[in-house]
Amino acid sequence: MNNSHRGVSGRYWRLVVGLLCGLSSSMVLAGIAESVHNLGMTGTGPSANGGQRNQFSGTAEICVFCHTPHGGDARAAVPLWNRRLNNPSSYATYDDLGTSTFDAEVAPVGSVSIGCLSCHDGTMAIDSMINEPGSGADNPGFSAGTWTGSDILGPDDGKLAVGIVQNLGTDLTNDHPVGMQYAGGGISASTPILPQGDTTDPDFAPVLYKIRDGRYLWWVDKDWRTGGDGERSKTDVILYTRDAANGYPGQTQQEPFVECASCHDPHTTENPTFLRISNTETPSGLCLTCHVK
Ligand code: HEC
Ligand code: HEC
Ligand code: HEC
Ligand code: HEC
Repeated sequence: MNNSHRGVSGRYWRLVVGLLCGLSSSMVLAGIAESVHNLGMTGTGPSANGGQRNQFSGTAEICVFCHTPHGGDARAAVPLWNRRLNNPSSYATYDDLGTSTFDAEVAPVGSVSIGCLSCHDGTMAIDSMINEPGSGADNPGFSAGTWTGSDILGPDDGKLAVGIVQNLGTDLTNDHPVGMQYAGGGISASTPILPQGDTTDPDFAPVLYKIRDGRYLWWVDKDWRTGGDGERSKTDVILYTRDAANGYPGQTQQEPFVECASCHDPHTTENPTFLRISNTETPSGLCLTCHVK
């Protein structure tokens, strides 16, 4: 091998290594560790409100604030859910407003939404979980930690402070409705809307579905206007089945409902405010994914 060849391959490898490093650091940056949902001691940067970051000194773990590998609460439609849930009857829902245009059935607050609200209604401490990190459900080392942060009520309390926009409270009448049928209902396992077919409601985008173990998995493709890719991915709008097995007593068939995580992916840093679809790249692109306006 001559010198010039080695020189080229040296530069080549520096380039490859450089590209890989750039790639891997941007992959790390894209994750929840760099988001305000990293509530453990390793979170960096300011809080979403610009003040001091909200974090708990008792652990460097991230997922534990929401998930546990064992013993989760299966009532929330969230895998391995590690938090206690509020009583669904403690919420006022959007339909209580009685706008004349609203025509969907509303289920009791549940599914993934009641999971989000276990922190975002401001009533429960964020470090109150089913299985604390470490051995046993109750780990003294964890409990000895304290909260710091400008949006947290107190060092031992860890609830979201009153008055910040992240605290939705238990009155959900001033929030985009959740727990309601998509497109005013009429879509179900027995009469699913055909892929890219008609909608029962011209005001809404068509729903797609796939069936896994008899369960319907629904979504709205973010690019449905141009055909879409036919895949259900986390950057599409995700719709959630509500039926008797999913906190909607009396509901006999699976139907797609809108929940908090239809619009938000709690792990993403792709878009601000954990949005699945940017609301600025295409102006109001998230809203227009569902609403035909
Ligand atoms: C373990 C508690 C917890 C859970 C569960 C939780 N969040 Fe959060 N979330 C927080 C905290 C704390 C903040 C505020 C962080 C800050 O201001 O720095 C926050 C911030 C947010 C923000 C605002 C981010 C911003 O940049 O303004 C959104 C949006 C959000 N959460 C959505 C959700 C959704 C949707 C769910 C359920 C899918 C959820 N969260 C579940 C604790 C939680
Ligand atoms: C603030 C709360 C919160 C934190 C922290 C959190 N998750 Fe989640 N996670 C959720 C919620 C809510 C869902 C359900 C969202 C949905 O339906 O897509 C979910 C779903 C998931 C899923 C299944 C759906 C998917 O998007 O792949 C996986 C896997 C997952 N989480 C892994 C993790 C891991 C690993 C961590 C830590 C690195 C973590 N989560 C941290 C709230 C959280
Ligand atoms: C997941 C799909 C989806 C997305 C995304 C979405 N919406 Fe909705 N929205 C609905 C559904 C379904 C209803 C219930 C409509 C009904 O049944 O009357 C609704 C209701 C509403 C209503 C109340 C209508 C009434 O009659 O009271 C308003 C206003 C609204 N959405 C605005 C928005 C805006 C603004 C955005 C973007 C920030 C948005 N929506 C994003 C699905 C969505
Ligand atoms: C129909 C879509 C949609 C649904 C459903 C939805 N959100 Fe949001 N949410 C948004 C959008 C869009 C924003 C960004 C608003 C902005 O830019 O100020 C947002 C912002 C937020 C914020 C940050 C507020 C701020 O302005 O900093 C929180 C916290 C939040 N949502 C939590 C929730 C929770 C919890 C639920 C379920 C109870 C929920 N969202 C349901 C679309 C939705």
